[in-house]
Amino acid sequence: MQIGIDKMGLFTPNTYLDLVMLANARGVDPDKYTIGIGQDQMAIAPLSQDSVTMAANAALEVLDDDNRDSIGLLILGTESGIDQSKAGALYVQRLLGLKNARAFEIKEACYGATAGLMTAYDFVAAHPEQKALVIGSDIARYGLDTPGEVTQGAGAVAMIVVSAAPRLLALEPATAIHSDDIQDFWRPNYSKEAFARGKYSTEQYIEFFQATWADYRAQTGRTISDFKALTFHLPYTKMGLKALRTILPEATEAEQAYLLDRYQESTLYSRQIGNIYTGALYLGFLSLLEQSTQLAAGDRIGLFSYGSGAISEFFTGILQPGFEKQLAGADHKAMLAARRQLTMAEYENQFQAELPEDGSEYEIDLAMDNAPIILKGVKEHERNYQVRD
Ligand code: CAA
Repeated sequence: MQIGIDKMGLFTPNTYLDLVMLANARGVDPDKYTIGIGQDQMAIAPLSQDSVTMAANAALEVLDDDNRDSIGLLILGTESGIDQSKAGALYVQRLLGLKNARAFEIKEACYGATAGLMTAYDFVAAHPEQKALVIGSDIARYGLDTPGEVTQGAGAVAMIVVSAAPRLLALEPATAIHSDDIQDFWRPNYSKEAFARGKYSTEQYIEFFQATWADYRAQTGRTISDFKALTFHLPYTKMGLKALRTILPEATEAEQAYLLDRYQESTLYSRQIGNIYTGALYLGFLSLLEQSTQLAAGDRIGLFSYGSGAISEFFTGILQPGFEKQLAGADHKAMLAARRQLTMAEYENQFQAELPEDGSEYEIDLAMDNAPIILKGVKEHERNYQVRD
């Protein structure tokens, strides 16, 4: 029985910051951001979008009359959760009109959605008549005028996982995992911004990639020649390239050029949206599928997931016949094109805007947010979500 991804959805807020503008404001050479880091724009979430609303908005794209009633598992992977107790997945379930799913939230930095995907794999293996909805949704925040500022972003990717006949990607059983207790990136409960040991985190990412790649090769006997594309968790687009470059010498020159072209295709959405933490690997995978004209059914794609703290997993899938019909590249292009560019002042205001934490009532100005699912405000410590008609 095959198990894999049937459909994918994407959501990102409708405002962004141009990173050349950010570089100029911070007195940095813009090439450092656009070439050295590899980012052009980053999505900035308004107060009316949080990890719950973005997750639900992304999931709207993948739910239909055929799968809605058979969602038995709903997992939200996020490291920007809105509650220490209640799972964001339960709000998402209600906002989507779903019922009685095993709904919960997973946290392990940017690995959360992969933890969800692997759990969904086991779930649909045990319950082939049911489907799983797995979502990675996050707002990446490092703080104004910090080294990590240019690697922020916001958005969500949703995936339907099914058994028997996934129409996009059939996951293969072999996976390689490497995990260890390290302190490269973390966010204590009292902080709204992440703490990152920037250089150390990039070194660890590469070491963890090399460990899983070596393990995967040893387990399966496969080589780099067995892959038509390798996709990566993308905290910024240069990061995956650094990891890819460490194994490219294993390929022929022609294979190297081919894999580098596919890598570039996988970075387009991240370049415009930024780091979306749990969804970032899947954003890269979706970008590859929606940008590339070179891929065909039967191609093996590698996916490298990395969550700081840290755990990494390298796993693979085979593109399915007709996979192109499952994609919505034109819609995603239109969503990105319709975004409004913020001025520096608007960005800094939006970044610093906060919901009250003292129980007072607050209504969010919704004039600029046209998303179907929004956060309207808070009252007595409860978030008030709305699905627009
Ligand atoms: N023109 C072109 N390139 C330039 C340049 C210029 N004028 N000036 C600098 N560069 C290049 C540098 O040579 C460097 O390239 P290499 O990495 O290839 O050597 C690159 O731009 C970045 O320069 P610095 O290393 O000096 O940048 P920095 O010290 O300001 O910080 C960063 C970069 C560490 C990524 C920082 O943005 C950061 O801390 N980000 C958050 C942490 C992060 O994303 N870590 C990634 C691994 S952890 C992970 O993956 C989990 C997650 O999602 C967070």
